Amino acid sequence: MSVESEETKTFYVTTPIYYVNDRPHIGHTYTTGAADTVARYQRMRGRDVLFVTGTDEHAQKVVRAAEAAGTDPKSFADSVMTSYIEAWERMKISYDRFIRTSEEEHCRVVRHVFSRLVENGDIYRDRYEGWYCVPCETYLPEDEVLEERCCPDCGREVERLTEEAYFFRASAYSNDLLREIEANPELIQPDSRRNEVLSFIRQGLQDTCVSRANRGWGVPVPDDEEHVVYVWFDALINYLTVAGYAIDDAKFADVWPPDLQLMGKDILTRFHGSMWLAMLMALEIELPRLLFAHGWWVSAEGDKVSKSRGNIVDPIAEAEYLVAESGCTTDVAVDAVRYYMFREVTFGLDGTFSTEALFSRFNADLANDLGNLLNRTLPLVERFLDGVIEEPGPGAGELEDEVRRAVAISEEGYETLGFRAMLEGIWELLGATNKFVDERAPWDLYKQGKKVELAAVLYDVVDAIRIVALMIAPVMPSVSEEIWRQIGLGQMGAEIQWDDCRVGRLPAGARVRRGRPIFPRIDLDRVRQRAAATEQETEAEEKGEKMISFDDFTQVDLRIARVIDADPVEGADRLLKLVVDAGEDEPRQVVAGLAEQFAPRELIGENVVLVANLEPATIRGVESQGMILAAGEDEPLALIVPDRDVEPGERVR
Ligand code: MSP
Repeated sequence: MSVESEETKTFYVTTPIYYVNDRPHIGHTYTTGAADTVARYQRMRGRDVLFVTGTDEHAQKVVRAAEAAGTDPKSFADSVMTSYIEAWERMKISYDRFIRTSEEEHCRVVRHVFSRLVENGDIYRDRYEGWYCVPCETYLPEDEVLEERCCPDCGREVERLTEEAYFFRASAYSNDLLREIEANPELIQPDSRRNEVLSFIRQGLQDTCVSRANRGWGVPVPDDEEHVVYVWFDALINYLTVAGYAIDDAKFADVWPPDLQLMGKDILTRFHGSMWLAMLMALEIELPRLLFAHGWWVSAEGDKVSKSRGNIVDPIAEAEYLVAESGCTTDVAVDAVRYYMFREVTFGLDGTFSTEALFSRFNADLANDLGNLLNRTLPLVERFLDGVIEEPGPGAGELEDEVRRAVAISEEGYETLGFRAMLEGIWELLGATNKFVDERAPWDLYKQGKKVELAAVLYDVVDAIRIVALMIAPVMPSVSEEIWRQIGLGQMGAEIQWDDCRVGRLPAGARVRRGRPIFPRIDLDRVRQRAAATEQETEAEEKGEKMISFDDFTQVDLRIARVIDADPVEGADRLLKLVVDAGEDEPRQVVAGLAEQFAPRELIGENVVLVANLEPATIRGVESQGMILAAGEDEPLALIVPDRDVEPGERVR
């Protein structure tokens, strides 16, 4: 990731595009926040930047999530994708382009790439027989599936697929790819991840299936509408689409290759580190400059934080909690969360998210070190210099060595994604500056009438604060802006540019404007007490909630119903449309998610239990008047049926 000044190409940085069956959480925010930080830094260095994020919409699990929500995949994706846009706005993510894989332009590029690879023989048609993990959207070779037919990555049950399909000849690129990664240690980072990719490829890449049967969702394979392009193959191509590949040659020449592609460790080895690079080789396109895989945010128990594990951390809710407990502004709280993510854990390793640690860092690093320096310095400038920074006389520049050191560390940090060491380096400068104020005691200089020295000391301190504001701007843009305002630079229209990270660039004449403290301290004891009380309350509530009264139970009208007809619901793999006799004048129609476990014929004639007074709902365009009971939380394992013959319409108690 070079930032040499002769570099004229647009700095191109990507995040993965996020599945729309999920909503934004700390994991997504981590990848996107890191990309944002780098993009902001590069802009400060004067580079043109293309920073892209977006949504990955053609997954099978999106179809299922839409079905469960009683809507179609497109409307479902439309609604979830706005939750990403909103989250990124709140988290101050300055992306230049948001791509959706359902965009017409992207679908065209996918088809173009597919056809090109068919033409040069890198995609061929064959028969796929093997395993597929829907939650991971991954084809799994026979030897990788665990004995219990579980996915080695997520542990959930895999599905057997037997279908005609298209294959990408990844095997042909194994050796070249290996050579490329071995020769270029900068291509994949950190080293531990690079080694994982290398050992994966050393086993030999297998050809991968890149199509699925067309069930109405996905990019149709060119000249074969019976198949759609496999979601990962489709999604990876987004990086080409936004760069103008096969659309705008001049743009592509300027943007390509990506300077930085960021992702979590789970999607490096199999996808970005092998499939993606092999695809680029097959297309004869230059490889990215750097793929960087960060670690996971894990729960206290060591599990990855994710929706399916139900241990989600919502960064926006954390920021709101901070606002409530400290009284800072929402923008400052968002910056504090961003700061915490990059200061708490070395980028590349796993970390445990804890609200308590976030609050502690807010008090110690932000309120004490940074906030204090500002809050003690500005009143001194007001009192001793009438609030106006004077031209630095002789003797100024005493903090130059400390500043140089911190600037060098932070440049290195932004360029190598060593965010933690970088922030530590900046905080060392804050420490040195606080110490400088104590030692040079401007109040004594004032008393002793040493005006020139006093002005020089205060100049140095405000100048150091200015440089800190610049260095933290990519991580904490709103805080940086507020400091800029308080030290009078906002009003002077001074630009935020990296080149000004040098002592002596604070313009004389800046009028400081003390504002409210940016980081009002949090009373941690009070927070702990309140959290303990709330925990007790919720426990009590939960216990109470688990019990329902007999009256509540009798509200549910359960009846025996006999299935008289059953048909699949078109375009919905898991749904069946049942017609049942519940002892009423007319039979009812009920949509049930039973198709994967039961053949329609099996069900006809069965007596089942119907929730008869459930509000009607339209699922996949089909009206459903009730619900059939089955055992199994996520998927039906067995139907609930009476153990002897009873008449339809009989009440169940
Ligand atoms: N849609 C694919 C990416 C296609 S890119 C061509 C995908 N999406 S995802 O929404 O499941 O995950 C996106 C990113 O979020 C990944 O980089 C993943 O590593 C990251 N995280 C999801 N949960 C995470 C944590 N708990 N901690 C840190 N990041 C993790 O994969």
